[in-house]
Amino acid sequence: MKDVRTGSEGQCQRKRVFIRTYGCQMNVYDSDRMADVLRPLGYALADTPEQADLVVLNTCHIREHASEKVYSELGRLRDTKAERRAEGRDLTIAVAGCVAQAEGEEIARRQPAVDIVVGPQAYHRLPELLAEAERKSAILRAGKRLPGAGVLDTEFPAESKFDHLPSPQGVRAGSAFLSIQEGCDKFCTFCVVPYTRGAEYSRPVSAVLAEAKLLVAAGAIELTLLGQNVNAYHGEAPDGSTWSLARLIRELAEIEGMARLRYTTSHPRDMDDDLIRAHGEVPQLMPYLHLPVQSGSDRILAAMNRKHTARDYLKLVERIRAARPDIALSTDIIVGFPGETERDFEATLALVAEVDFAQAYSFKYSARPGTPAAKMDEQLPEALKSSRLDRLQQLLARQTHHFNQTCVGKTFPVLFERAGRQSGQLIGRSPYLQSVHAEADSGLLGRIIPVEISGAGPNSLTGVIRAA
Ligand code: 5AD
Ligand code: SF4
Repeated sequence: MKDVRTGSEGQCQRKRVFIRTYGCQMNVYDSDRMADVLRPLGYALADTPEQADLVVLNTCHIREHASEKVYSELGRLRDTKAERRAEGRDLTIAVAGCVAQAEGEEIARRQPAVDIVVGPQAYHRLPELLAEAERKSAILRAGKRLPGAGVLDTEFPAESKFDHLPSPQGVRAGSAFLSIQEGCDKFCTFCVVPYTRGAEYSRPVSAVLAEAKLLVAAGAIELTLLGQNVNAYHGEAPDGSTWSLARLIRELAEIEGMARLRYTTSHPRDMDDDLIRAHGEVPQLMPYLHLPVQSGSDRILAAMNRKHTARDYLKLVERIRAARPDIALSTDIIVGFPGETERDFEATLALVAEVDFAQAYSFKYSARPGTPAAKMDEQLPEALKSSRLDRLQQLLARQTHHFNQTCVGKTFPVLFERAGRQSGQLIGRSPYLQSVHAEADSGLLGRIIPVEISGAGPNSLTGVIRAA
């Protein structure tokens, strides 16, 4: 969970918005875009909900109990709103993101203090939704009754939200996200994304290039291209042809000042030859790839509707490593999918042992309502899922730590992104996306500096800036 605080915009603005972001980088990007939409309405960013006139919870539906966490946060906000109203002021509460999409009206029914429910496809309509919410609130304050609570927009509109969002403002210390693709047509049986984010959609090439240039002009030297299924990108180019992600990356790399490119999240089926080649040929494309495998058992992969086998994945890894031998691989793995046997789980451990991941995210399967896997027989007991997750995480933690240890003594170009906990320390990213802590002047924020790695922890590196 991250709070989006890109700083306030001057003293003259009267209203403040606090945006709390749960979940993935798509949501971080969307929160920034919501801040962009609200800025022309006079909303500056608040650091806490207490300072805010409008609180937006940008929610994530992937994790277990995600909705429950949102409801308990809403309960606290309802109390704040009641206190405000007693003082003759107001607090507008909006729920955005995938929980908003998935639960829709149910949210406003369960928590009537919610003013706005807005799905991920409708953020450009926030100004209208806010105006409508204010109108309703004024009627209520005047003591009149109103049918129905809250204002809802969870449609998948025919027009794209990207056509309506203003240009991005938030570049944080040299690194920015750029959303190029949204939604997913893969329908993995455990996943809510095809339902909450809708069908796969790629932004046109011209819009992506224009936004990239704006971000670079605003100080970004690293761009992370985002999409739920980013390597399925197939954007329309001005000449009517369709560009793949590889083609787009090659073009983005030509932008003056573009030092680093990354993309996430990819599906193994969409790693085409050109994209693999780009990893060997485009110097700006960082040697790090997040490539979820989910399971090492073919039986479970089929039940997950992943459309690849364990062997397909291993072959793919071989081809990627042939193109870029030093690439650091990261993955997502689910344990305890319905019907997973000890043997299936051991196949996952075997695949992990064979690939040797630099980084990984692992989860206990949790049934998401509305997905096919939620209705499957043989849901596994929690205790079994927990013990498998434990075993898997021990192996993954050893691999990450070992990868970090192999970096000691090497010198990496590090992009410094933020201040460290101790004063005089900055935290940056290696090409392999590791966090690197080093003594550094804050003037180096947003710059790429050679750092000699002197220490490796389980999840980060320490280093010393090399004299130029
Ligand atoms: N249960 C557990 N993990 C899930 N993920 C997605 N849906 C579920 C679920 N129902 C994990 C997948 C995906 C990552 C973003 O979250 O591993 O790649
Ligand atoms: Fe979900 Fe990813 Fe599968 Fe699409 S490819 S359904 S986003 S897990």
